[in-house]
Amino acid sequence: MARLVINPDHKVSRINKEIYGHFSEHLGRCIYEGIYVGENSPIPNENGMRTDVVEALKKIQIPVLRWPGGCFADEYHWKDGIGPKEGRKKMINTHWGGVIEDNSFGTHEYFELCRQLGCEAYVNGNLGSGTVQEMSEWVEYMTFDGLSPMSTLRKENGHEEPWDVRFFGVGNENWGCGGNMNPDYYANEYRRYQTYVRDYKNPDHEGESSILKICSGPNVDDYEWTEEVLKTLFHHCEDRFHGNLDGLSLHYYVHPEGWKIKGGATDFDEKVWYKTLSKAFYMDELVTRHGEIMDRFDPEKKVGLIVDEWGTWYTVEPGTNPGFLYQQNTIRDALVAGITLNIFNKHSDRVKMANLAQMVNVLQSVILTEGADMILTPTYHVFDLYKEHQDADLVDSCIDSEEIGLDEEYKVPNLTESVSVAADGSMCITLTNASVDTAYPIEASIVGHGVKSVAGEIVSGEMHEMNTFEEPEMVTVKPFEAVEITADGLSLTVPPCAVIRLSVELQ
Ligand code: AHR
Repeated sequence: MARLVINPDHKVSRINKEIYGHFSEHLGRCIYEGIYVGENSPIPNENGMRTDVVEALKKIQIPVLRWPGGCFADEYHWKDGIGPKEGRKKMINTHWGGVIEDNSFGTHEYFELCRQLGCEAYVNGNLGSGTVQEMSEWVEYMTFDGLSPMSTLRKENGHEEPWDVRFFGVGNENWGCGGNMNPDYYANEYRRYQTYVRDYKNPDHEGESSILKICSGPNVDDYEWTEEVLKTLFHHCEDRFHGNLDGLSLHYYVHPEGWKIKGGATDFDEKVWYKTLSKAFYMDELVTRHGEIMDRFDPEKKVGLIVDEWGTWYTVEPGTNPGFLYQQNTIRDALVAGITLNIFNKHSDRVKMANLAQMVNVLQSVILTEGADMILTPTYHVFDLYKEHQDADLVDSCIDSEEIGLDEEYKVPNLTESVSVAADGSMCITLTNASVDTAYPIEASIVGHGVKSVAGEIVSGEMHEMNTFEEPEMVTVKPFEAVEITADGLSLTVPPCAVIRLSVELQ
């Protein structure tokens, strides 16, 4: 029997809704086909956005969407994507499959998508191959309300009002596809470029900036990048750099068999199941160790760790363009999502945003499309379960767990949990069971409160189960009824390969 202890009155940190964010790049069939089909498509759409996809995304309350990349961002020249569509420049998408990018989805279309989704904008600027002027003018185009060359151009292109850009990324992976820079070189470039990312809505810099700036952070365990970038950013700036640096990004993907081989999305055995999950657990070490470096420069935790690319990255599905990164999604991905989101919740004092890569048809997507058809993946259903955590307070909790797995090197904790209390006092518990074959009974003690009611939902199944276009409802959210109210709190048994949410009304 595993013991879970929860203290709902001990609030630890706010779980920013942005932790449940997503990422969409001009890559494969993510934007084109997956989201944007154009106004003249036979696929039902509103202003070119697929109605089925938008409706499904609204249900999981997408809080923020990062765009246009990824590696694409540092080759994207935003002026190619505005104005009459027939006149927009066609270019090669050099990073992703060498296909033609016709720029029919640009700044106006992105903000239309955000409007339909009801989400915040996270625009990633081009530092690698763009100029300071180009970045500065994009921000002016998007956010300036007064009279200026760029706001006039926006109005001529049909959008009178400026948009809100809540987050702005100053480059992407500048240690690699964003220019192969050294950390001190990039950090100095960051200082220069961000100077001209003007906060037009809050020119006096009173209170919080209206546009939060995100610096391109480390790849996986490149602690030297974090250290060197922060050293250069904070040098001579201890007192005044805050406000010009709101976030540092971190990218980490789970490749079961390593970066080169990767491994299939659906073809894996028990050993690879545990290996994959142990690589998902590595996120905990990464956010802890990068966070410790950040603590030295920013002990008040004003700068967020922004995990703006995370998820599984497998070998592409047979017969698909290797540059399109299209992969299926099984119960294994549901566990990766559940475990990772519990890790982010537990580190929500430092992790202020995270963006799953990528939203539709690329890597660990929540939605897959084929022509006019759409399916929801097991990962989608986990985001559906966890949405109650958005903007709630993480509270103190801890669960007994034991190490399980077949290889000594890839043992994982059988159980994980995170618990939050929302503004209306309701409590949300999310749990994962990584075992492929063992159910675990759990006794939950809730300090200082009785339980008035509990309702559970679950995503579970045999480890290979997935949704296909032939069988779209193999994995869905189902009611979870194996939970009882006890004198101390709750008693439940968590089945193998499961992600669970309990919604609890406290006394
Ligand atoms: O998400 C796919 C790619 O992974 C992104 O373009 C890049 O930033 C990362 O390497």
